[in-house]
Amino acid sequence: MTGVHPPQDRQGKFAERVAVIIGSTRPTRICPGIAAWTQQVLDEGSLVHYRLIDLAEIDLPLLDEPLKAAQQDYKHPHTKSWSELISSFAGFVFVLPQYNWGYPAPLKNALDYLYYEWHDKPATSVTSLASKISSRKNVKAFQERRSARAL
Ligand SMILES: Cc1cc2nc3c(=O)[nH]c(=O)nc-3n(C[C@H](O)[C@H](O)[C@H](O)COP(=O)(O)O)c2cc1C
Repeated sequence: MTGVHPPQDRQGKFAERVAVIIGSTRPTRICPGIAAWTQQVLDEGSLVHYRLIDLAEIDLPLLDEPLKAAQQDYKHPHTKSWSELISSFAGFVFVLPQYNWGYPAPLKNALDYLYYEWHDKPATSVTSLASKISSRKNVKAFQERRSARAL
């Protein structure tokens, strides 16, 4: 067989792809380890194909599209690639730390680049708490953002 084919489940049907998105990008971050563990646990024995997406590798600049994402008239190749990648997933698991009571700016930037690519797809989030007094305000802020975008 030639070409790239989507993964198939044991019945030979095309398996759904879900992205596990690493929500922090700083050099000494712990998020990739948590995301890799999450992906491993979810993937084990599942018919769904979970794939890790690292925003540090995607390396999007601060939003630089002239038009709103909902218009889907993208100017930049990095936006077109990001749109294609996100469109290929049926759902998302966001792994996000808390930064100053919110979630990391690179994650918001990556969300803001697109609109319909996220729309009406199931999503959940996994967060690590830095201490027992961590407030989970990042998750609250993220959930509000998700419901605003019907994600
Ligand atoms: C810029 C920044 C802001 C942070 N703000 C909070 C905070 O508001 N509440 C909290 O409990 N932890 C906070 N932390 C601790 C992080 O949640 C913890 O260091 C976590 O490991 C960060 O994820 P990362 O290593 O993937 O970047 C902050 C850390 C950073 C770097």
